[in-house]
Amino acid sequence: MVNEAWPNNLGPVICVVGARPNFMKMAPILRAFGGHHPALPTLLVHTGQHYDKDMNDRLFADLRLPHPDINLEVGSGTHAVQTAEVMRRFELVLDAHRPSCVLVVGDVNSTLACALVCTKKEVPVVHVEAGLRSYDRLMPEEINRVLTDQIADRLYTTERSAHANLAREGIANERMCFVGNVMIDSLLANRALAHPPAVTLQAAGVDPGILDDPQGYGVVTLHRPSNVDHAEKLAPLLSVLREVAEKVPLVFALHPRTRANVERFGLGGLLSTRRIILLPPQGYLEILGLLAGARLVLSDSGGLQEETTALGVPCLTIRENTERPITVEQGTNTLVGCDPAAIRRGVDEILSGAGKTGRVPEFWDGRAAERIASDLASWLIARHEQHGR
Ligand code: UD1
Repeated sequence: MVNEAWPNNLGPVICVVGARPNFMKMAPILRAFGGHHPALPTLLVHTGQHYDKDMNDRLFADLRLPHPDINLEVGSGTHAVQTAEVMRRFELVLDAHRPSCVLVVGDVNSTLACALVCTKKEVPVVHVEAGLRSYDRLMPEEINRVLTDQIADRLYTTERSAHANLAREGIANERMCFVGNVMIDSLLANRALAHPPAVTLQAAGVDPGILDDPQGYGVVTLHRPSNVDHAEKLAPLLSVLREVAEKVPLVFALHPRTRANVERFGLGGLLSTRRIILLPPQGYLEILGLLAGARLVLSDSGGLQEETTALGVPCLTIRENTERPITVEQGTNTLVGCDPAAIRRGVDEILSGAGKTGRVPEFWDGRAAERIASDLASWLIARHEQHGR
């Protein structure tokens, strides 16, 4: 807790969001900054990487995120175009607002793009969710993580294993701070508001009767380019999902990238069974309700690995590796890759009652954002006293 008033000549904390998984991380941070004494002044910048109503507006409303002060409206493009556009437009924001620091979250293209602009202009970068590593450089997010951490001045981590990863890359211990998981702050703050699964299905025009299956239901999401961008990867995955659906009905929330590829590759037939319910990307309160009530989750998402661990719901992660090992070591997550036999085995195990129950990791307690607010306020004021900016 900092007792003195916020120095007048210390600029706002520019908080950056770009894509869907950033939103649930930023909402509790903004609340904690506002509730801190003294309140940390903030400016919310949305890069516009995600812009659809389903990917953006619903999440902002559910999470009670304020309207962004600035929207850079970069939209979609190749990685190079998207990153370059964010950089070009974000530089003007830095010039106009002279922030005390820029806070970025997660590992999306917007995270790295904004961090890069700052470092060239000597604006401190604060990275929330630092140090996670899949050690798979084919993942665009892994490049974003490694580079953002290299140039970040203050690094907040969600699990202790991140500190060893960062140390291995030559990052000094003094720059890191273990605070826990802001994603779980959002989950705990919204758990009681989550929509019941039957209400979500009814609102989507689907008969909720399927939820009464004696085996319960599973939730599916897939969007990683490595799983969905090539027909020879996507087709076998959809085939095994269809098999799984014969045992337990599935609710599949389709990411726009996945929907487009299912159509492009002509794979819609694999999903046309009444045991698989296809939904558009869901709002936060809808997905939370669906996850909380699920018998199992099949996904390649980073966030769902953490959310299922916090909810105690077994998760089969359709990836060969994870940057969130604590969800496997302590939580309910199992890596099954995209091998159909491993996926079938994982599902059978869960349906036979032998799924992982897990425990909730240290500091995934709903107070991570408060820890960040308190540490960042002290850090900024100390830095200000030392350097006068
Ligand atoms: C991005 C992140 C990924 C995160 C995911 C969550 C990077 C490198 N990837 O991937 O880490 O898990 O968000 O969704 O930053 N599209 C829409 N509407 C939108 C946004 C995208 O239709 O609002 C379509 C566009 O056709 C676009 C495609 O989805 O080309 C992919 O969007 P993009 O932001 O490039 O990456 P994601 O796959 O969403």
